[in-house]
Amino acid sequence: MLSNMEGRSVCVVSDLSIPEQLSLYRRASEIKDQIQKGEFPPNDSSKCAYLMFLEDSTRTKESFRNAAETLGFRVNIFDATHSSISKSETLNDTVRMLCGYTPSMGSVFVIRSKTEGLCRSLADSMSEYANRVGLIPPTFINAGDGRHEHPTQEFLDEFTFLEQLGNRTDEIHIALVGDLLLGRTIHSKADGLRIFNKVTVDLIAPLELQLPDQYVNKMKKNGFKLNFFGSLDEYFGQPGQVAPILYFTRLQLERMDKSLLEKESQFRSATTLRMDMLKKLPQGAKIYHPLPRHGDTPEIPFEVDKTVFNGYDEQSRNGYFVRTALMQSVAADPKKPRISEIRPAPRTLQIDEQETTNVNPMFKHLASSNPNHNEAWIEIRLPSGKPSDVRKAITKMRVLSNTDILDGSCQVVGTRGSHTIPCALTKDENWLNFFFTLFADCDAKIIYQKSPNVFVRVTAEPPEIVRGLKGLCCPNTACVSHPDMKQRDVQPVFERMNGTGYKCRYCDRESRGDMFTI
Ligand code: NCD
Repeated sequence: MLSNMEGRSVCVVSDLSIPEQLSLYRRASEIKDQIQKGEFPPNDSSKCAYLMFLEDSTRTKESFRNAAETLGFRVNIFDATHSSISKSETLNDTVRMLCGYTPSMGSVFVIRSKTEGLCRSLADSMSEYANRVGLIPPTFINAGDGRHEHPTQEFLDEFTFLEQLGNRTDEIHIALVGDLLLGRTIHSKADGLRIFNKVTVDLIAPLELQLPDQYVNKMKKNGFKLNFFGSLDEYFGQPGQVAPILYFTRLQLERMDKSLLEKESQFRSATTLRMDMLKKLPQGAKIYHPLPRHGDTPEIPFEVDKTVFNGYDEQSRNGYFVRTALMQSVAADPKKPRISEIRPAPRTLQIDEQETTNVNPMFKHLASSNPNHNEAWIEIRLPSGKPSDVRKAITKMRVLSNTDILDGSCQVVGTRGSHTIPCALTKDENWLNFFFTLFADCDAKIIYQKSPNVFVRVTAEPPEIVRGLKGLCCPNTACVSHPDMKQRDVQPVFERMNGTGYKCRYCDRESRGDMFTI
């Protein structure tokens, strides 16, 4: 068993490190072998699985149920349609109550929902709750949340690719075909494929269904080589190499808006495999699909089922082995004292004030024409110099800040890309937090005049975690923290990314300023 994973929730693929993912696959391989020989011993009767499927599922739900039973867990299937969720109860309240029914057991909640980031928000709040009342904190596994991620599908996909590649992790060449825009199994590939040293991904989808920028950028950052194609015909007609791994996804019609639905037949003809295409596949190639495929117009024709290219049957079987390994690894052992995770407190806003006589002549000029010492100037230098964004951000500041901070005319003076704006001087911590978060990537400064020749330049390291500020709201309407999702007890939280900008703690939506609404 992978003991260092005990008690850890898996909300997204990157919740497990690459070595942890690789050891999960080794464990799944042992389990597959033992189960096939009838030698797997069920032994975990001290643990309990709650299967909460708030969206339809066959394979994922049944493979988890069988995995939990194989492990000897007590299995509870939560009936969402006849629960208080239909009476507008929040999921936080529901899950808190369920935790109380298994007080001395290690509980694993497997959750599928259209609410993005639900698992992370529950993992946060239930761990706080369990520690407060002395229960064993439950573990959460994301079984697919909206269009966000599907980490356990990703683990079984990678396990299956490894089997095909003889467990070699040096390189992979894969084609992703279909609804790359809304398919969560595709989005999880941006992290899951990192187990390979060299990764080439052919992205095959009509423009409207291409992979969202956030995942394209993540793949590029992870060093993947990307090739884009608009249809399977274009792909098979090009001179480059066809990938030996073709991964299909169905059109996610339930998440499409009207403008996309109108193009359904066009999308289908661009991304449906035909039998004549099989001769273009390289030796040893396999075709995969997380399933279900569309019954009337299957993305992979039924005739492929009996060919050597069928990789999807084994892929779907592997879901059972990989999920058995995962549940066994992450369920907390109720007999072991829990070592509470000590996380360093996130860095809050760090203000730096420096006196200076050396200021831009513009400030001197503004100061002499405005000798009121209650005034200051903010200077914002845009990395890419987009004045319209500055205007938007300034409008947000004016509307959202409690104090009437900005000069009514909001006159932008200065060169293109660098803006100097008069405002009233404030040392209000909340306001400073707001200002330096909103302009985190803009080299923002506040300058005020202390005495006729001495100016003070205020700069700051933006906060690592942003919460509790007025107007803060994830722009993703499917995010668990968005008011549309009606989980009123979940407050928006944004985390600073390594490079620039912030991302929502729950749904991972990246944001540069649009995390504040007015
Ligand atoms: C996938 C899902 O739910 O995202 N299916 C699955 O888990 N087996 C893919 C899909 O529904 O298209």
